[in-house]
Amino acid sequence: MSGKKATLTIDGQSIDLPVSSGTMGPDVIDVKDVLAKGYFTYDPGFMATAACESKITFIDGDKGILLHRGYPIDQLAEKSDYLETCYLLLNGELPTADQKAAFVHKISQHTMVHEQLTFFYRGFRRDAHPMAIMCGVVGALSAFYHDNLDINNPEHRQIAAIRLIAKIPTIAAMSYKYSAGQPFVYPDNKLGYAANFLKMMFAVPAEEYVVNPVLARAMDRIFILHADHEQNASTSTVRLTGSTGANPYACIAAGIAALWGPAHGGANEAVLKMLDEIGSVENLDKFLAKAKDKNDPFKLMGFGHRVYKNFDPRAKVMKQTCDEVLAALGINDPQLELAMRLEEAARNDPYFVERKLYPNVDFYSGIILKAIGIPTSMFTVIFALARTVGWISHWLEMHSGPYKIGRPRQLYTGPTQRDLVPLDKR
Ligand code: CMC
Repeated sequence: MSGKKATLTIDGQSIDLPVSSGTMGPDVIDVKDVLAKGYFTYDPGFMATAACESKITFIDGDKGILLHRGYPIDQLAEKSDYLETCYLLLNGELPTADQKAAFVHKISQHTMVHEQLTFFYRGFRRDAHPMAIMCGVVGALSAFYHDNLDINNPEHRQIAAIRLIAKIPTIAAMSYKYSAGQPFVYPDNKLGYAANFLKMMFAVPAEEYVVNPVLARAMDRIFILHADHEQNASTSTVRLTGSTGANPYACIAAGIAALWGPAHGGANEAVLKMLDEIGSVENLDKFLAKAKDKNDPFKLMGFGHRVYKNFDPRAKVMKQTCDEVLAALGINDPQLELAMRLEEAARNDPYFVERKLYPNVDFYSGIILKAIGIPTSMFTVIFALARTVGWISHWLEMHSGPYKIGRPRQLYTGPTQRDLVPLDKR
C-alpha cells in the first residue's frame, strides 16, 4: 500500500479505495471493494487496468523505456544473448558463467521432439498457415506431457519451461519444412540457439549448411527483442488460461493463438503484405491518405502501439540490426527502399506525429526477416518462438504464489428477463 487513498463518490455514497505503489510506474487504485457496494468497474480493452502484480518487465510508454528485471532492452540486445535473457526472465537475475553453461546445456538436452509428434504435421495441408500448425502442434505437446506433470510442483513447472524454450525452435522450423515439402532437420546441439534454428530452417540433407554468423547474431537479437513485453494480449491470454490450472503447453498454444492477429504479432507479416499492396513509391501518398481516412479500415501496419506513445525502444535496436544485416548481405531490395520511404513520410506527416504513431518493433523485424530469407508466413512464428520464454515466465510467476481464476464481469445490455413463448405460439 502507498498510504494514499482514493475516494469514489456515487449517488452521494462514498467508497474508500486503497492505493498501491509499485517500484516504478503509476500507482494503482484497488477497486475490489466496489463489488460489495453493488458496482463493477468498466474498462474495455483494459486501457487502465492492472490485471496482476509482476516483477518481470517494466514499460514506460511515454518515455519509450522497456526493462526486463530492471535491465534496459538495448543493453540486453547489445551485451547479452537470447538464452541469457531467457535465464534472466525465468529466474530474476542474470546467470553467472557456470549458471549460464548449465542452463545452455539443459536447454540443449531437450531440443528434440518426440518422434511421434512429427506425424502430427502430416495431418495438415501443405499450404496451411504455419501459425495454424504452431497452435495445433504446441497444443499437442500437452498430450505428451500431461499425466506426469503436476503444476503444483515447482520442479515440474521448471522442466515444462525448459522443454518449451528448447523445443519451440524445432517445432517452428518443422512447420516451415513441412510447407516447403522438405525433410525435417534435427537440431544440432553444437550450435547456438539462433544458429541451430537457422540450420533447421535452411539446411537440406543433400548439401552442407554453414550458418552465417551475422545472420545468427541478427536472429538472436530479434529473439531478445521479442522475448517479453509485460501484460500484452497474448501474455494475458496465457495468464488467463493458466489461472484455470490448465496444462502449460495448452496455455502456450492459447498465447500463440492470441499472438496471431494482425493487431499483435501478425503485424510483422502484415507489414510486408502492405508493402506489396503499396507496390511503389508513387503510391505512398494514396496509401497514407487511406491510413488517415476514418471510413477506410486500412491502417499503416507496423505503426502505433497501445503502450508506446514514443519511439518503441525495441524498434531503435531493430533498425540498427536491420542496417547491419542489409549491409552484410549487400541487399538492395526495392521493397526495403519503399519501407524506408514510407517510414520517412509517416514520421513527417502531422496525422502520425499528433497521434504519436511511431514505427514499432514489427516494422523493422519484417524487413530483417525478409533479408535473412525467412518467408513472410513464418514471421509471426518467429515472434511466437521468441515470446515463449515471456509467456512461460509469466505462467511460472503466477503459479509461484496465490492466484485467482481470471473471471472478468460485464456491463449487460441485452434483454431483461422474459418468459419463453412455446414454438407453436411464436
Ligand atoms: N495507422 C493509422 N492510424 C492509426 C494507426 C495506424 N497503424 N494506429 C493507430 N491509429 C490511429 C487510430 O485510428 C486513432 O485515431 P483517432 O484518435 O483519430 O481515432 C489513434 O491513432 C489512436 O489509435 P488507437 O487505435 O486508439 O490505438 P490502440 O492503442 O487501440 O491500438 C494498435 C494500438 C497497435 C492496435 C494500433 O496502433 C494498430 O492497429 N497498429 C497497426 C498494427 C501493428 O503494427 N501492431 C503491432 C503492435 S507492436 C507488436 C506487438 O506488441 O504485438
